[in-house]
Amino acid sequence: MAQNSNVARFPIDVIRLTAATTQAPVKRPREFTCFSYDKNHNLRLDDSSIKWYYPPQPPALPANLSAGFDKFDKHDSQDEHLDSLLTAIAHHEQQTNQPIDAKFVTWRGMMTKFLIAPYPYDDDDGFEMNATLFQDCIFIEENWVFAAEKKAKQNSGWKGPISQEEMTFWGYKFETLATIPRPWAETSREVIENRGDEVVSNKEQYCSVVRSEIGGKVLCFGGEVDAIWDMKPKEPGAKINWVELKTSKVIQSPRDKFQFNKKLMKFWAQSFLLGVPKIVVGWRDKKGMLVSCEEYETKEIDERVRRERDGGQWPWMPWVCVNFASEILDWIQQVIKADPQQSGVWRIRFDAKSKVVELFKVEERGHGRILTDEFVN
Ligand code: A3P
Ligand code: MG
Ligand code: MG
Repeated sequence: MAQNSNVARFPIDVIRLTAATTQAPVKRPREFTCFSYDKNHNLRLDDSSIKWYYPPQPPALPANLSAGFDKFDKHDSQDEHLDSLLTAIAHHEQQTNQPIDAKFVTWRGMMTKFLIAPYPYDDDDGFEMNATLFQDCIFIEENWVFAAEKKAKQNSGWKGPISQEEMTFWGYKFETLATIPRPWAETSREVIENRGDEVVSNKEQYCSVVRSEIGGKVLCFGGEVDAIWDMKPKEPGAKINWVELKTSKVIQSPRDKFQFNKKLMKFWAQSFLLGVPKIVVGWRDKKGMLVSCEEYETKEIDERVRRERDGGQWPWMPWVCVNFASEILDWIQQVIKADPQQSGVWRIRFDAKSKVVELFKVEERGHGRILTDEFVN
């Protein structure tokens, strides 16, 4: 544990952030490489695991999202660090003979955490990450130990009639029901109609790796995308019609609505970061019956939330998220680069109760497990 005096602190001042009249400039994320995990979760440096969006329709609706839970081909998540992302970046650098120009490299999930930190769900909604400086770029990974403990705590406190595991399955089941493995024109009726009987797996994934800029800082991050609407354009950096799939409980009360609008912040942040233009919400009841699908345009979400607040509380504001993400990255960079050793592993810790981000060194030398030997060499 670091000495108290060596801990840098950054309190989140939501009142100041809310009062801002401008938003830090953001550049549209552009995919420059990608990778896939195949059916066995083996890495492939290609787009082989891309899925096409094709929503389920009656008579396939309503659909039981629990069907097939007993056969779930589940990827037992473990700490995968930044390994696949680094492999994809290194491969791209070798192919183009040019290093990437990013000052931060991380998973999209970590960037999402920064964006939404001003609006934690509750006092336990903190996070921890590890960071290291290498060749003028800061690499950030999740602190897996903290994440696993947080999840275990949430699961043990769960008292609902349906297990958390089964409810997590619903999300993957929805992905299976709403996607096809080839474009529509190349997919048989049979495949479309038999999606309900397919074994659900979360091992197969497609990850987009993008270059983006927030507040003048060049960022590179990788993140999973669920599906594509049409075809990936041939021109590098062109907009891609990605689709993010989400399930949510049908709204029946003002409280449900407020909760959903807050959930939309997470959907928005996640999709905004990777340049995913469309989010499809699969509405389900409390027993896991999927009843309908609704499309949301990512860029219209904040306006919609604002419009629908009905004189009530405004749950979140996008410029607060963007400006905070920009400020925290500036601060992290400033603290880490001021370190005379220019090496070692840092911990980024956010405590949701006090809304303070802390940054301190946990290893004096090296890069911990954040960077692979293959990448460093
Ligand atoms: P839902 O989002 O429909 O609940 P993603 O939407 O990010 O592509 O993730 C797909 C599914 O993975 C989610 O579906 C959910 O079932 C599961 N999932 C993702 N993140 C999770 C988390 N932090 N905790 C529990 N389940 C998660
Ligand atoms: Mg996904
Ligand atoms: Mg999804």
